[in-house]
Amino acid sequence: MKRILSGIQPSGKLTLGNYLGALRNWVNIQNEYDCMFFVADLHSITVTQDPKTLNENIKRIIMQYIACGLDPNKSTIFIQSHVHEHAELGWILNNSTYMGELGRMTQYKDKSAKQQNIKVGLFDYPVLMAADILLYDADYVPVGEDQRQHLEMTKTIAKRFNAQYGETFKIPEPYILKEGAKIMSLQDPSKKMSKSDSNPNAYISLFDEKDVIIKKFRRAVTDSLNTVRYSDEQPGIKNLINIYSCITGKNIQEIETEFEGTGYGKFKDTVADSVANKILSIQEKYNQLNKPENENIIKEVYQKGCERASSIASNKLKHVYKSVGFVVD
Ligand code: TRP
Repeated sequence: MKRILSGIQPSGKLTLGNYLGALRNWVNIQNEYDCMFFVADLHSITVTQDPKTLNENIKRIIMQYIACGLDPNKSTIFIQSHVHEHAELGWILNNSTYMGELGRMTQYKDKSAKQQNIKVGLFDYPVLMAADILLYDADYVPVGEDQRQHLEMTKTIAKRFNAQYGETFKIPEPYILKEGAKIMSLQDPSKKMSKSDSNPNAYISLFDEKDVIIKKFRRAVTDSLNTVRYSDEQPGIKNLINIYSCITGKNIQEIETEFEGTGYGKFKDTVADSVANKILSIQEKYNQLNKPENENIIKEVYQKGCERASSIASNKLKHVYKSVGFVVD
């Protein structure tokens, strides 16, 4: 089985964008690949986190992975910091990476432009991500558009290391999702829907209640054309059509026909309703898992995941250390 690896940062509560853009697809590929899904806690501290909130978010994401349909018997679910080899390989790979390359990463440029004191971790972030991927010889990495440049960086680092030290790493490829679109902010459809957006109206959280979901959709930024058409001139409506299509499985044409002659109000409410139904069913499973008597079940999931991940990662790191010339035995 080919191996797939991906992770989500615990930098907030998961959103509809995480679900439709990533998780839902992960659920669908669990049977076809050896899947490894982790919580990228080491990455999340590249921006300041409140320790208590971070701790809660990490556990929440594990529970949400399962509530959304990831099956711990099929997929390896773990927490990045539990497998110490991630940080260790990151250090090694720092020495196969150039400052200039990292300085050209667009996410770094965007994030650092907003700050005065830029952390080394933020700059080095793509190298840790390379370590995440290369540790497991991942064949495919499902990532969104915003992470594609980082994946290219991973390939560059892997090839450079292999050239210097001999074949050590598998070169990963992006996994292009068969379905699913990039879900954009409800307040600014030129931006990705993000759990770290400062305006909560911009995203639907998987924890939002039904009336909140409906309100957020009603407030979603659209245009004044008042026709439900899928076009780049109507990015807000396009985003809502994408969301509706992902949730219902209907294609764009069917949706345009369904809402022909209907105003935005009714369209938005219909989309909101379909989203709310889906999210409420995820919440139901989540609430079941989130009971004190089930704490051990969750712990068992990430401990078992860590065990399997660690056994792969420690072998790989040993191989790397040997390649580099360290004394390993
Ligand atoms: N950087 C990714 C994001 O913010 C999260 C991530 C960390 C990741 N390591 C990874 C994704 C390895 C895929 C593979 O979305």
